[in-house]
Amino acid sequence: MNKTVAGKRRGAKNPMQTLKRLLKYTFKNYKAATAFVIIFVLLSSAANVLGASFVAPIITALFNFSKGAPVDMWIIYKNVIIIACIYTAGALAAFAYNRIMMYIAQGTLKRLRDEMFAKMQKLPLKYFDAHTHGDLMSLYTNDVDTMRQLLSQTIPQLVSSALTVIFVFTMMVLYSVTLTLVIVIMLVVMIFSIKAIGSRSAKYFLKQQVALGKLNGFVEEMTEGQKVIKVFCHEQKAREQFKVLNDELNETGRKANANAFILGPINNNLGYLQYVFVAIVGLALIIPGATQWLVSPYCAINGAYDVAFCAGILSSFLLYSRQFNMPIQQVTQQFNAIVMALAGAERIFEMVDTPAEDVGGNITLTYGETEEGKWAWKKPCENGFEFIPLKGDIRFEDVTFGYTDEKVILKDISLYAKPGQKIAFVGSTGAGKTTITNLINRFYDIQSGVITYDGINIRDIKKDDLRRSLGVVLQDTHLFTGTVMDNIRYGRLNATDEQCINAAKLANAHFFITHLPEGYNTVIKRDGSNLSQGQRQLLAIARAMVSECPVLILDEATSSIDTRTEKLIEEGMDKLMEGRTVFVIAHRLSTVRNSHAIMVLEHGEIIERGDHEQLIAKKGKYYQLYTGAFELD
Ligand SMILES: Nc1ncnc2c1ncn2[C@@H]1O[C@H](COP(=O)(O)OP(=O)(O)OP(=O)(O)O)[C@@H](O)[C@H]1O
Ligand SMILES: [Mg+2]
Repeated sequence: MNKTVAGKRRGAKNPMQTLKRLLKYTFKNYKAATAFVIIFVLLSSAANVLGASFVAPIITALFNFSKGAPVDMWIIYKNVIIIACIYTAGALAAFAYNRIMMYIAQGTLKRLRDEMFAKMQKLPLKYFDAHTHGDLMSLYTNDVDTMRQLLSQTIPQLVSSALTVIFVFTMMVLYSVTLTLVIVIMLVVMIFSIKAIGSRSAKYFLKQQVALGKLNGFVEEMTEGQKVIKVFCHEQKAREQFKVLNDELNETGRKANANAFILGPINNNLGYLQYVFVAIVGLALIIPGATQWLVSPYCAINGAYDVAFCAGILSSFLLYSRQFNMPIQQVTQQFNAIVMALAGAERIFEMVDTPAEDVGGNITLTYGETEEGKWAWKKPCENGFEFIPLKGDIRFEDVTFGYTDEKVILKDISLYAKPGQKIAFVGSTGAGKTTITNLINRFYDIQSGVITYDGINIRDIKKDDLRRSLGVVLQDTHLFTGTVMDNIRYGRLNATDEQCINAAKLANAHFFITHLPEGYNTVIKRDGSNLSQGQRQLLAIARAMVSECPVLILDEATSSIDTRTEKLIEEGMDKLMEGRTVFVIAHRLSTVRNSHAIMVLEHGEIIERGDHEQLIAKKGKYYQLYTGAFELD
């Protein structure tokens, strides 16, 4: 199971399909707003095009005026006013569609983030094994941001540009077929240069994203590992590694942008060149006898093409030629943004499409529905429901499991834990102790064999309810930002303050909590960094205790706690254990001495089992571990 590293970030595999899906996703919830966007985009493009056509009569009038011919000045004023009105309307329409698109984009991204986070909560642990945190984080940051740009700026601009190009082209053909031909020839040259430079720069933009991902991942890792870096004096080495990554980002960024920046000036210059060509060809054709080549037949007034009229047409046409190039240039400048946004969108959709963890079977946990009024499993059957009292009897029968198909971790494990029993797993590091507990709460599914809970195959139990019945202290304690009280209440959200304090007392955490600056209201900083390791473990135990589950799983729960405190917790635990099944994993064997059964694991197999006395008498692995521990003491 290789982690997908930032180095694998790439362009979209299927850009058109991704674009289609993104558009559908965006606009399906905003039908009315979308209709307005279309109307305003149409209005703004039409206004841009229409405005230029009123220049021709003004120029014609001015031309005549300069020759001393009688001129109705009102024609000039009227057209100037019309042009002003049209461009104002166009600007207002552009403002309106940009505002609406911004609103649509923000709403869409909020919905998408909600969906992403909801999905993340449902993904199986396997998914997190296969993706780095950096990769997941950048879905919410980089990728969502490139999509924001695409939706709120690029797409409206693309549509508006496409419309403008069509409108302008139509007008140009109507005004002058000859000059339009000149434009088309220049356009072909431009497209070739854009293609050559544009695709190179897109390649570098994607590489830049990859380099950025690597750099971010490195910074994240170095921030988390500051203490280790300092302890091993790795500052210099870390700086060198950072320099390599930073140079790479600099290099790709420079190339990407250099190409992108060449494109702009080249296009600009080609645009000016085109303007000059059109002007020269146009002026050359304003000579008697050639004007029919300049002006399309549509524009002819009684077949007469006088110079003033042609000058008017030419000036409008020159404006159009500028308007024709501008959207094409804008679109080419957006090309990289589109490539990056579609790659990001595809990654996000991939995450959203990952199948959720299956919810398990249809047997649920219920309280107070049975005669005893206690917790019970509720199993649907032919005539309604059957209730099975929740006792906490857990059995493994010939369970075989591997995190990947290639490597088996647990081989043919069979064991049972009766209600109220304390079962211990001991064994060397990496033997598979934590893995066994991962299977009870169905973090992972077994390849063969069966695990039963009160006689029910755990696959038939609804996963949420299965986990609700298990109180777990994980090997690596994790606390959340919030008060101490909040963190204990995490075990059972409806627990009262009193119940939380009681649990803390049982876990022997009450003493240290009351000595914190604000007691139970002290805010725990990021993952409990303002507490000692042992204090964090005590809180994790209190959190599991408040859950009042019939089965407790304690994975190295007391590994950082001093032996005296551990003894004190044990008393609390013993009280708590009455009627509960407890699985304990501990390297410190004094912790497990009083267990009903101790399983010794080695390379994923149970090699010895029995209680403490039996195992000592056996003089096997347990004896070695136990006496070895004494030697070390
Ligand atoms: N998420 C995972 N993906 C792949 N392999 C894993 C994963 N977690 C654990 N393993 C492998 O499974 C084996 C058993 O790991 P496990 O965590 O169960 O050991 P353990 O007995 O709890 O060790 P320790 O005493 O150090 O906590 C190890 O070889 C480990 O490399
Ligand atoms: Mg472990």
